Amino acid sequence: MRIKSICCIGAGYVGGPTMAIIAAKCPHIKVTVVDTNESRIAGWNDVDVSKIPIFEPGLSAVVAEARGRNLFFSTNVDQAIEEADMIFISVNTPTKTYGLGKGMAADLKYIELCARQIAAVAKTDKIVVEKSTLPVRTAEAIKNILHNTGNGVQFQILSNPEFLAEGTAVSDLLNPDRVLIGGDSSAEGQEAVNALVEIYANWVPNNQILTTNLWSSELSKLTANAFLAQRVSSINAMSELCEKTGADISEVARAIGMDSRIGSKFLKASVGFGGSCFQKDILNLVYIAKSYGLHEVADYWEQVIIMNDHQKRRFATTIVSTLYNTVSAKKIAFLGWAFKKDTNDTRESAAIYVADYLLNEQANIQVFDPQVKDAQIQNDLNYLGSRSESENRSGISCAEDAYQACQGAHAIAVLTEWDEFKEYDWQKIYDSMQKPAFVFDGRNVLNAEKMRKIGFIFQAVGTGK
Ligand code: UDX
Ligand code: ADP
Repeated sequence: MRIKSICCIGAGYVGGPTMAIIAAKCPHIKVTVVDTNESRIAGWNDVDVSKIPIFEPGLSAVVAEARGRNLFFSTNVDQAIEEADMIFISVNTPTKTYGLGKGMAADLKYIELCARQIAAVAKTDKIVVEKSTLPVRTAEAIKNILHNTGNGVQFQILSNPEFLAEGTAVSDLLNPDRVLIGGDSSAEGQEAVNALVEIYANWVPNNQILTTNLWSSELSKLTANAFLAQRVSSINAMSELCEKTGADISEVARAIGMDSRIGSKFLKASVGFGGSCFQKDILNLVYIAKSYGLHEVADYWEQVIIMNDHQKRRFATTIVSTLYNTVSAKKIAFLGWAFKKDTNDTRESAAIYVADYLLNEQANIQVFDPQVKDAQIQNDLNYLGSRSESENRSGISCAEDAYQACQGAHAIAVLTEWDEFKEYDWQKIYDSMQKPAFVFDGRNVLNAEKMRKIGFIFQAVGTGK
């Protein structure tokens, strides 16, 4: 089966970039990305392509090349479903905030709604691809909904988890370590798998396209994220020990990373991992393990989250204790709010939790992030619900630039590792601050020696005082 038309439901951080690359690499396939969020779709269609709703290096150029040729963004979900041979489901699966599994299980209501909509609209056979990260055996639920429509339409369900990391989405999609496709072992299932393999084979070498059964594919995604998050928690745990003993975590990371069995990537101590995936996927894994009665397995993985929460809190409490045990009415500058550099995504960013802690201590926070604006920051804090919207507004605001954020501040907290932070005129910033002036570098981006020479009292997570 040769695919001529693709529909992707969900124009978010995964659906948008993934479909842009498929369209760019497969000009013979019509790709339509749909979303119910009208302003998001309007953003993707903005004549000024630099205004697309997701900031990712290189993405606007890819969209500019394919949009209007074979890449389309639309709110007409039904029409796109009807036209497509293959439908990707790329909607959000946040952690449940209510009912059974609250705070742990993935909320599958958006997935289920998609499946029901596909079932209601489809008139011809379709291949349905799970792109969102899902608990193992979600495909079964989607299958049940689709197969019981009674209108004779045949559906094949595939799992094709996305491994792109935000901030490097375009290069990850262009040169993936591997593409994983899970499908049914029946002849029809294998035909569907091959149809998707053929799409990726337009730019990914065949030996990097892995095919497995559905459940292996679903569980591999959760496992990959759990292992990656575990590495960050492991290095962060060691960073606390380094601070006590005078060892330097970056030296330790370098020394262990040269062991080819360990590898050098993903060993940066930080103020804690954020992003929409790690915490959600581990909580989900813990929930699944518990539901099978595997309590030791659940506790093992839960510790990764416990360590991460501890690291965020530890960073915040260090700021307070260093500033003579009070930050009340003191201005603290935040450099960065996004959960990592080169993205405007703030979901689960450590900055939110550090700000929340400091606001409880009555600090005045001013933030500068090159890609995040005030409305998003207020949203993030309002969503936590620790205080009223007006209290958040009076406690935290956005600055025009880093110089304004730091002016008159007692301390700077670096929460995102934006490259531009290294290039600032740090002497000028120091001169404009209250003395003594402190820098807390939660992302280890600034040069400690240089900062101390300027006069800052400098502390980075894991490097000791
Ligand atoms: C992650 C996975 O990497 C990706 O494969 C999956 O598809 C989605 O989840 P993402 O969350 O976009 O991607 O970014 P990632 O680069 O993994 O970073 C996650 C968090 O870990 C960030 O807050 C980052 O700053 C932090 N991190 C990462 C560290 O603190 N130290 C490191 O060494 C690496
Ligand atoms: P991700 O990081 O997984 O891409 P996002 O939250 O950025 O997650 O994107 C998911 C998108 O899916 C959102 O823009 C949301 O509006 C969209 N969405 C959710 N449910 C539906 C649905 N039933 N039909 C169309 N779009 C949907």
